[in-house]
This record gives sequence, C-alpha cells and structure tokens, in this order.
Amino acid sequence: MNTQVVLARRPSGIAAATDFRIERSAVQSPGDGQILVRNRFLSVEPAMRGWIADTVGYAPPVPIGSVMRALAAGEVVESRHPSYAPGDLVTGWFGWQRYATVGAGAVVRTVVERDLPLSLSLGVLGINGLSAYLGLTQIGQPVRGETVVVSTAAGAVGSAVGQIARRLGCRTVGITGGDDKVLQCLEHFGYEAAFNYHNTDLDAELTRACPDGVHVYFDNTSGSISDAVHRRLALGARVVLCGTAAISDWTTWPTGPRVERHLLVRRARMQGFLVFDHAPAFESTIAVLAGWVRAGELRVAEDILDGIEACPDAIAGLYRGENRGKRLIRL
Ligand SMILES: NC(=O)c1ccc[n+]([C@@H]2O[C@H](COP(=O)([O-])OP(=O)(O)OC[C@H]3O[C@@H](n4cnc5c(N)ncnc54)[C@H](OP(=O)(O)O)[C@@H]3O)[C@@H](O)[C@H]2O)c1
Repeated sequence: MNTQVVLARRPSGIAAATDFRIERSAVQSPGDGQILVRNRFLSVEPAMRGWIADTVGYAPPVPIGSVMRALAAGEVVESRHPSYAPGDLVTGWFGWQRYATVGAGAVVRTVVERDLPLSLSLGVLGINGLSAYLGLTQIGQPVRGETVVVSTAAGAVGSAVGQIARRLGCRTVGITGGDDKVLQCLEHFGYEAAFNYHNTDLDAELTRACPDGVHVYFDNTSGSISDAVHRRLALGARVVLCGTAAISDWTTWPTGPRVERHLLVRRARMQGFLVFDHAPAFESTIAVLAGWVRAGELRVAEDILDGIEACPDAIAGLYRGENRGKRLIRL
C-alpha cells in the first residue's frame, strides 16, 4: 500500500498541518517508460508555501486533492525505463508519499555519491547547496576581502553560503533567529560575526560588523532584516534575492521602506535567483560540493523528522524557525 500526503485545502498565509490529509491507496505499477521509486527521504522546503499558494509563482499551484509536490530521494524498485535499474538511487519530484510511479521527467538525477548519506542529496548536494553555490558565485560574484551578509544564516542554504563565501576569502556575517543558531554560525559554520535578529539592534550590529559596508547580501528573508542590510550596502553591492521567508502573507502585497534610493546611491544591483534555471550546472557543482563534504571542508546540519505523519506540520515548523539545519522526513 502507498501512503500519500495530499493538499486538502488552499492555505491563506503559512501552510498549516490542517491544510493536508494523509491517504492510503494501492501502489501503482510502472507503465512503459516509467519507474517505481520507494522514497527514503522527503524534503521540506520553505518554498512549498509558494507551491500551494494561489498567488503568482514560478510554477502552477498544486491542485487540491493532489499529492503534495516535493523533492524526494529514494531507490528504484521497478523500472520500465532503459536508463534506470532496480537499486539505483535517485532524487526527483516524487512527492510526499512512500512510493512514486513516475516518468523520467520527474527524476532530477541519479545519485552517484553512494559513499555519502543519501539524505545529503536533498540538502547540501541538492537544491540547498546548489542555491548557495550558484546564487553566491553567479549573482553575488564575491571578491576576496569583501563582506558577505547572509540571512537565515544557520539554515540549509544559508549555512552553505557562509562557508562557501569564507572559502572564497570573504568576511562572513550571519543573521539568524536564535541564540543557539548564532553560536552554531560562529562555531560550526565559521562566520566572523553573527547575531539574532529577535534580540539585537540590527543597525548597530551591522555597522559594527561591516565597517566597509555590505558587498554581497544573500537575502533569504526580505522584510525588516533586509531593510537593515540595505541601509549598509557598499558601493557596487550585489543583492541575491533567494527567498522571502519573512513575508508571511502575499494576499496583501507587502509594503515597506523603499530600496531604490539605496541602490541608486550605492550603484548596487539586486537580482532574483531561482536554482532550477541553472540545471546545466548541477552535476559539476554537486561534484565540487561533494568533494568538500568528503574532505570535511563543508559542514552540514540536518533536521530529520521520522515518519510520513510528520509531513503536514513540517512546513509551518520551518516558519516557526524550529529547524536546526536542512529539514527532511525519513521514511
Ligand atoms: N530561489 C531559490 O531557488 C531557492 C532555493 C532553495 C531555497 N530558497 C530559499 O532560501 C531560504 C532558505 O531555505 P532553506 O531551505 O535553507 O530553509 P532553512 O533556512 O533551513 O529554514 C527556513 C528558515 O527560515 C527562517 N525564517 C522562518 N520564518 C522567518 C521569518 N518570519 N523571518 C525571518 N526568517 C524566518 C528560519 O530561520 P531563523 O531561525 O534563522 O529565522 C527558518 O529556520 C528560503 O527563503 C527558501 O525559500 C530559494
């Protein structure tokens, strides 16, 4: 039997556990050109909120009553496709369910790093690590000696951004939502400075930590955190717009301090980033990231919940800031 988490209703604001329901159904045998995957890890992304919202996004919203769209990692148990064989480990758009019967178009990649834990293929060797590396290098374009500020600095994307920026010779400053996360940023992820946006004066801390201004801002939050960083942008700064975690509601369009004057005065630029636009660079980037993980030069934190029953509340948990690293569901 299959167990599936389906979207029960369209949420307003952050998705709640009650917006999903768990159903059981027969496992579907693969047809010609399809594979049957037994999911081992299901991914939980802040972006899932956008995948089910009825607002403008980069993909059509998940229909009510459908299996929740999700990246997952698992093992091919049956194949009617020439490129896949039973025993292959794959990641892809397999959804929040135990078994997925899918065509090759749903597969993101075959996991070749069989010496590393499979869970990493959804985090640092998946869209989180890819977003960090590609967003930072291609849009942020940091130069040795520059200061890179990262929001959600202890999270799956942010922790990798901080470490990669440091490898590139930059000073790194992290902004995060808990005192324990600040410690983790300083001691585990090597940030030069880090602070908790809930209990510090961000303007004062940024002024102290970034005496030459902020050359690259890797923005995962938007909102008041970003308002404070924008005031500190250096001449020619680059802002990577990767996430908007601080905007809880898109039905009333958020307004706030206007950024245009800061961009003009500092001749800075902001650019939106979507990891899926960079698919041709995935394999070569994952090879680099996997090498660093193997060498112990890229540290990883994972926040693993057990059992498919943990899915419905897992997105809301990210927005409560309760995750300590990449959030995954282990089946
Ligand atoms: N554009 C792309 O292609 C792409 C790809 C992957 C991820 N992303 C984005 O990257 C960001 C990080 O994703 P992730 O997967 O690495 O998640 P994550 O950082 O591991 O977890 C989400 C974190 O968001 C923070 N957060 C939640 N509500 C917030 C609020 N109201 N204000 C400020 N921070 C809040 C919390 O950290 P704190 O406790 O530190 O506040 C929470 O732990 C997200 O915005 C995500 O959408 C974008």
